[in-house]
Amino acid sequence: MKVRSAALLLTVTVLGGCAYDTPMSTVSTQSDFGRAILGVYALITWICAVIAVIVFALLAWVLSRYRDRPGAGLPRQIRGHTLLELSWTIAPALVLLVIAIPTIQVIFRTQSQTPPGALEVTVRGWQWWWEFRYPSLGIVTANELYLPVGQPVAFRLEGPDVIHSFWIPRMGGKRDVVPGRLNQVSFTPDEAGDLWGQCAEFCGASHANMRMRVVAVSRPEFERWAAQQKAAPPEPTEAAAEGRAIYAKSACVGCHTIRGVSAGVIAPDLTHFGSRKTLAAGIRPNTLESVTAWLLDPQGLKPGVKMPAVGLTPAEAKSVAAYLLSLK
Ligand code: CUA
Repeated sequence: MKVRSAALLLTVTVLGGCAYDTPMSTVSTQSDFGRAILGVYALITWICAVIAVIVFALLAWVLSRYRDRPGAGLPRQIRGHTLLELSWTIAPALVLLVIAIPTIQVIFRTQSQTPPGALEVTVRGWQWWWEFRYPSLGIVTANELYLPVGQPVAFRLEGPDVIHSFWIPRMGGKRDVVPGRLNQVSFTPDEAGDLWGQCAEFCGASHANMRMRVVAVSRPEFERWAAQQKAAPPEPTEAAAEGRAIYAKSACVGCHTIRGVSAGVIAPDLTHFGSRKTLAAGIRPNTLESVTAWLLDPQGLKPGVKMPAVGLTPAEAKSVAAYLLSLK
């Protein structure tokens, strides 16, 4: 039984280690902001580990040394020992000081103003999706954030509806997106990778479904992406043209932008929808099947979603899905 429990404990511990390098790991980081926080975290963890060892060793010694021995009577009692009293007051104060100095330094560093030469990105948290605007590049996209490795990025966080929290665990700490208040955060991605971000402030029914894909890429790759996003969407092929005609006549146009086709602003910009890998803020792969299912019953896939079913037949939905996916 004991062996089985020990084996189980070991397995759980070892498997826990497998989660170390996940796309949402907070202990495996790839930006200056993330590293700064991880540095404080590591320092505190090591200090706590040393304190724990000392405390448990002392405890074991006291338990053994002063255990009840038959006929031995009470051990010698100590009262009002000035040196002891002073040392257990000063020691924790010193520990707090050692923790406080780097903590405050990192707080100031991660709150500092936009670094020069930063790429500006305006982040808008909507119920329940993310809008990303690159004002200097004239790009608007949703739920997929492309970042160039090695360049500082300055995010302006704007909240059009309720409070959300912008969080890319591998890039650093969270920052709230608050309506009527401009929050900022900046960091420099230092490694390419395909990561995930997540809204970290409860914001209603689909809070858990408010994800973002974060793609950190090399400078040339970023420029390729930016050029593609800036370009007009491709002219639809014959099959997609039918979908475009249905889209243009439907209620979709009131909320969504597709450059040259519709100009709605309260829902994700779909101009380059087909270039995204995920749908509905990261909850589905962006495939013909899932886009069709989404158009027919968004509520069924994402509870509370603001997008209504616009009354398309299954054939029409498939046609519109094909058109949207052609928008590379
Ligand atoms: Cu947005 Cu939770």
